[in-house]
Amino acid sequence: MASPQSESSLPGATLKGKIVLVTGGAKRIGRGIALRLAQEGARVAIHYNRSEAEARRTAEECGGAELFRANLESVPEIQQMFADVEQRLGRLDGLVNNAARFTRFDPLAITEKDWDFIHSVNLKAVFFCCQQAARIMQKQDEGRIVNISSLGGIRPWAEHAHYCASKAGVIHLTRALAKAFAPRTTVNSVAPGVIPFDDIDERGKRMIENTPAGRGGTPAEVADAVVFFLKSSNFVTGQILAVDGGLSQR
Ligand SMILES: NC(=O)c1ccc[n+]([C@@H]2O[C@H](COP(=O)([O-])OP(=O)(O)OC[C@H]3O[C@@H](n4cnc5c(N)ncnc54)[C@H](OP(=O)(O)O)[C@@H]3O)[C@@H](O)[C@H]2O)c1
Repeated sequence: MASPQSESSLPGATLKGKIVLVTGGAKRIGRGIALRLAQEGARVAIHYNRSEAEARRTAEECGGAELFRANLESVPEIQQMFADVEQRLGRLDGLVNNAARFTRFDPLAITEKDWDFIHSVNLKAVFFCCQQAARIMQKQDEGRIVNISSLGGIRPWAEHAHYCASKAGVIHLTRALAKAFAPRTTVNSVAPGVIPFDDIDERGKRMIENTPAGRGGTPAEVADAVVFFLKSSNFVTGQILAVDGGLSQR
């Protein structure tokens, strides 16, 4: 691979053979990202926590992806997972921090437990996954980290204040770590708008009606943006790309 000073992984670069770990990769958006990376020729590693059956199915569809289980609330489990990744796969070229939680509460009623439930996974775990990945990547010529944030980290949502704060944290963490890990490891973020699944509620439907594109997004569209950052040179770092049909411009 190229030295950190050179224009490594120029656009058009391939993900063929690159080892990329996707957290929460069993289903929904994470599954879409994992499948897309496998199509690009990457050697995908899929993290899951509770969704073992779905993770096994996604891994099979990715051509036999490696599976890693961890409860990301636990920093020791995060550390163990990255030690296992290094031991089983030998290196780590990319990390996609996709796993997260989403709850809705009136901020006047929110408890410490509700706050920690969100922040332990959405922000604290993202930081420690970035740290563990970067420790491996800094030993290599280069690495790529993509954090999945949210439109909620850009625009404020009253009944999701705790979630919005966690995702705004992911966005600023991305910028800070981009500086900290340069020039070897880039850190960027994809901020999805509404990516609907079967459980979409009335609020989600209203957001889609307000979306300039006139529809919700798909996991494949989020995956496109992830692939862009994974393939980009180290001149693209600390960036936030909203994949939201224009909703952040409203
Ligand atoms: N869907 C949307 O409209 C939307 C919009 C904006 C941003 N996003 C962001 O996009 C990403 C994916 O969204 P999604 O809707 O597909 O997510 P999701 O289904 O709600 O969650 C993704 C995965 O996160 C994992 N996870 C949750 N808590 C965990 C824990 N304690 N330890 C380990 N893994 C844990 C779960 O893995 P297991 O099932 O294996 O336990 C889950 O399958 C998230 O970062 C989300 O915030 C989504």
